[in-house]
Amino acid sequence: MAKSLIPKLPLYPFIFSAVKRVIEVLKTPDTPVKRLEDYPANKLANSLHPAKQHLKVVKIVKWSEDMKTYVFAPDEAAGTTSLAWFSAGSYLSITYRDKNISFTRPYSISSAPRESLENHYCVTVKRTEAPTASNYILDNWIIGTKAVASDPQGEFTYEPLRDAKRVIGIAGGSGITPFRSMAYAIADGDEDFELTILYGSRTLKDAVFSDELKALSETCPKIKLINVLSEQRAKGCKYGFVTAKLIESVVPKGEEYSLFVCGPQAMYRYLDAEIEKLGIRPKFVRQELFGEYSHPENDPEYKGNIKGKYKLTVKMAGKEYVVPCRADTTVLRALEEAGIDAPNRCRSGKCGWCHAQLLKGKVYTPKSVDGRRIGDIEYGYIHPCSCFPLGSITIDIPPMPQ
Ligand code: FES
Repeated sequence: MAKSLIPKLPLYPFIFSAVKRVIEVLKTPDTPVKRLEDYPANKLANSLHPAKQHLKVVKIVKWSEDMKTYVFAPDEAAGTTSLAWFSAGSYLSITYRDKNISFTRPYSISSAPRESLENHYCVTVKRTEAPTASNYILDNWIIGTKAVASDPQGEFTYEPLRDAKRVIGIAGGSGITPFRSMAYAIADGDEDFELTILYGSRTLKDAVFSDELKALSETCPKIKLINVLSEQRAKGCKYGFVTAKLIESVVPKGEEYSLFVCGPQAMYRYLDAEIEKLGIRPKFVRQELFGEYSHPENDPEYKGNIKGKYKLTVKMAGKEYVVPCRADTTVLRALEEAGIDAPNRCRSGKCGWCHAQLLKGKVYTPKSVDGRRIGDIEYGYIHPCSCFPLGSITIDIPPMPQ
């Protein structure tokens, strides 16, 4: 008979440890010791990335009829007791609903990250020509108005591993707001980089936050502000527009720099050519689009009929809707105009929150707002916030992430 290769071991230690295990199991209470959300790591994650933040307006600063800053505090009655920390340059996706209107729009946080520790966020809203959510806010929001915000979002933030130590910020109009937040973060010691802001506006009167940013630059040498006025000549300001030449003139020769651009769409169309002249590496250029993409017919790649009127078939949450859509508005706008509550956050093609599968038909997605991954494109996914129908289309919107 073959001899077993396994040596005979005494059974006693195994029996002893099995009994010990059974005793330990019997000692465990029937109910969980802690709820998952009570573990310190989960508590920290929830405080940094809450699914929702209930906010209420506690102060309004009126810069003009057309521009106001809204100061938010947590709406404790709705369950939010503290606000999430953020990196300067982030935005909040704010949802507002009442019986007459409902919308979700992204707004840059204009306050310092440190103010979130005092339970405050500020967003600054500017009137637009077309009727928009911003105009509704300016005309209707009062102290006590309540809204729901996402956790702070976005990539328009300084990343020491990716960005150069010197940042040139180009701001147009209310595009100054994320730079205000960055300037305070630098002055407070929460960010460490040199920030030169080229702030384009029509006149000095239109350049909101200019005085306080100038004052900040006098106490913090890492911050510089240069006003660039297109319709006024004023002492200490540049006249005209931000050009490649002006950008180069504020950077010490041979030094690397990152370029952060935030402003209205017209500014991007003009600046693209100027940025190209700089020959700066793409990783050093960051753009934050203020407002949705519009006028795709101005793009040389656009091959549609901008006057087209089509049908949009939507499959969502087990239902199917057929609604009108126009060639000159994004698919997301068409959904909203039809009263369909479709998910969205950045509204500029970047975050992917709105993604949907294109089952039938064709859309046009401008290159500059096409933030889809290769896999999304491969499997026919679109970002409804940043594409325009080229004919009747059918889309499938997957369940909204919680
Ligand atoms: S809402 Fe962010 S990609 Fe559409």
